[in-house]
Parts: sequence; C-alpha cells; structure tokens
Amino acid sequence: MQFFLDSAITSEIEYALKAFNIDGVTTNPRHVQASGKPFLTVIREIARLVEGTEKTVSVEVNPHFMTYEEMMPEAEKLAAISPNFVIKLQCVEPAFRVMEDLAKKGIRVNCTLIFSAFQALQAMRSGAYYISPFIGWKEANGEETRKFVEEIVTIRDNYGFDSQIIVAAVRNARQIVDAALLGADIVTAGLSVYQEGFHHPYTREGIEKFASFWDKTPYE
Ligand code: E4P
Repeated sequence: MQFFLDSAITSEIEYALKAFNIDGVTTNPRHVQASGKPFLTVIREIARLVEGTEKTVSVEVNPHFMTYEEMMPEAEKLAAISPNFVIKLQCVEPAFRVMEDLAKKGIRVNCTLIFSAFQALQAMRSGAYYISPFIGWKEANGEETRKFVEEIVTIRDNYGFDSQIIVAAVRNARQIVDAALLGADIVTAGLSVYQEGFHHPYTREGIEKFASFWDKTPYE
C-alpha cells in the first residue's frame, strides 16, 4: 500500500519525503490556496521535489472547466510541465472523453471527487490511472464507506481494470488500516493524520516505564 501526502505546502512535502518516504503527492485547489503561492509556481516547486523519481504529483485542472474544449488543452499543458504529474479531473460527464484521449497520449489522469461505485466504474472504463473515492466527505455526511471502497475494489478486480484506487479525504489511521484491509492501492492524507497515527499513548507510556528501569540499572 502506498502513502500519498495530501498537501501543496512544500515544507510539509519535503519533510514527509525525508521522514517517512511518502510515495506521492495529491494537491487540490484548497491545498494550493493554503500554500499562499500562485498555482503554477507551487506545482513547479513540488515537481522539483520529486524530480528523477517515480513519485507522482496529482495536479487539478481548473474546476470551472466543464467542457472537453476547456479541459483537454489545460490537461496537456499541465502534463508537459513534469513527467511526475498526473492530471486531476473531476468526475463529470465531459471529463470521460478527456480521460480516454489523454490515456491514448500517455497522459495519466486522477479522476477526483468520486462518491459512488458507479462513478468509479465509469472512470475506470474511461482509462483513469487513479480513481479517488473521497471517504471523509461521505462519512461527514453520515454515509458508510467500507462497503463503498470494497465495491470499487471488487469491480476493479472483476474486470481487470488498470486503475489504482486512492482512498482520499482520509481523516484518521483507522481509515488507513480499513483501506489496506479492503485492498485499496493508495491512501492520501494530510501530514497530521499520519503523524497522529504513528503515535500511540501506550508507546509513550512504555518508553517512560522502560526509561525509568534503564536509569536504575548499571550499564556494565
Ligand atoms: C484527494 O486527492 C483530495 O485532495 C483530498 O483528499 C480532498 O479532501 P480534503 O481536502 O477534504 O481532505
């Protein structure tokens, strides 16, 4: 299972690359806005951080674009910036032909804002390299997500689609474990989700206990 960082803050990305070797980065317009930098500036900076590696960076096409004619040239322009870029397209009807045509040109797409297994199926049929079901938003809306992810994994495996499943909008370590148990390929989450998950109160308690025994025992 791969761990992606959901962020456009370059200091966070650099840290997560060094500290726990994240496998890729996903950005979205909210993350880019939070970086305080212009879109093209920040995605170029992120591209430099992963240059020469196989790690992907998902970059999102202007969400106002709702036609093939708008999406296609923008997707090609962004893809030309870095071989690490995967182009994020929203899961809307006009995007499906864009995905197919980009796939024919060897440009990878991350189909984002997926909230139903049917949307996921259509994105897979359209040749999406990644598909991103958003579980955090569904759960905030009171919807279940384990079956949701399970259905997407089953559909992918039933038909041998090549799409990789990124469980997105992840809010805690339990959701990461569930995604792994259900056979998702990737999770994407913010830095604090990973860091909170790496810690456990018993680990801290154990360290304190063992340190006190250590201090009372001669070394030689
Ligand atoms: C995934 O690719 C998205 O960027 C992300 O998970 C969106 O969710 P959030 O911003 O609510 O966490």
